[in-house]
Amino acid sequence: MSRNENTRETVLKASRAYYTHVAYYEDQLAQRQRRATETTKRQLDFLESAFRTYATHQVREVLDVACGNGRHVIGLAHRGYRCTGQDYTPERVQIAKVIAKREGVSVKLLQGDATRLEYQNEFDAALALHIIFLLPDDVDVAKTLRRIYRALRSSGILVCNVYNPFYKGEGWFSNLIHKGFHVEESHGRGVRITTICRRQDFEPIHGVAWAQETSIIEAPDGLHVFRDHEQSRLFTYWDILHYLQAAGFKEIRCYPDWKIKPPKKPKAKELVFVSRKG
Ligand SMILES: C[S@@+](CC[C@H](N)C(=O)[O-])C[C@H]1O[C@@H](n2cnc3c(N)ncnc32)[C@H](O)[C@@H]1O
Repeated sequence: MSRNENTRETVLKASRAYYTHVAYYEDQLAQRQRRATETTKRQLDFLESAFRTYATHQVREVLDVACGNGRHVIGLAHRGYRCTGQDYTPERVQIAKVIAKREGVSVKLLQGDATRLEYQNEFDAALALHIIFLLPDDVDVAKTLRRIYRALRSSGILVCNVYNPFYKGEGWFSNLIHKGFHVEESHGRGVRITTICRRQDFEPIHGVAWAQETSIIEAPDGLHVFRDHEQSRLFTYWDILHYLQAAGFKEIRCYPDWKIKPPKKPKAKELVFVSRKG
């Protein structure tokens, strides 16, 4: 797809607006919800297991690209890793800082664009979770992976993931792409977030979808309604394999749905890739 700087700016602006609107309330909800904690814990267990399986030396320093509210870096910091998280949306970085302080862990948290990571040979492992499909275009995906490659030490590990476009079961991404809408309600003590996602545009040749997202938030500080737009791009297993190879990564393996042991009947809602700096 040809590079269009206006589209890039539009995508980043829309993404920032959405994550700014929901950041604070997602944190409020996560504190009150067991399910969110359990999902993150399962993912942290997977990450540690991948570090142990893939590492040629002990993983100590971890970079999380597009760390959001910091759930992975803060979780890993609790488990003894030295962590740095970076996210494009300053409001999310701020929330992550508040959570890290509240939980008494030290994590370096910075605002920054994934395509502009400035590190070189500094980390044993990097994460790029739930972000690749949000990057505006091919150039940004390739740049981000190259920057992550450079940030890693020799034999460093990257864990990244995408939603599988062939999965047609329940889930926001598959419902949005295949049915055209998704409604989800999450609640915890005193906070309820209802999200109504409607596919607005779908460009089937390049696999680019724009969604209109209405977030209805009931929280102790009142009722809020936010209307946002977000672009998502569809990637298959082969796309990610090629991007990783092009960036220089080796020993690339894919684990459906964060399962270390291959399930008998994989549903593969999410494709999680573990790879090593060559
Ligand atoms: C779906 S959230 C994922 C957050 C976290 N990695 C997780 O798995 O919980 C996507 C995050 O990507 C961030 N983001 C979007 N575009 C970005 C970019 N170009 N560079 C860095 N972060 C970006 C958003 O601010 C948001 O926090």
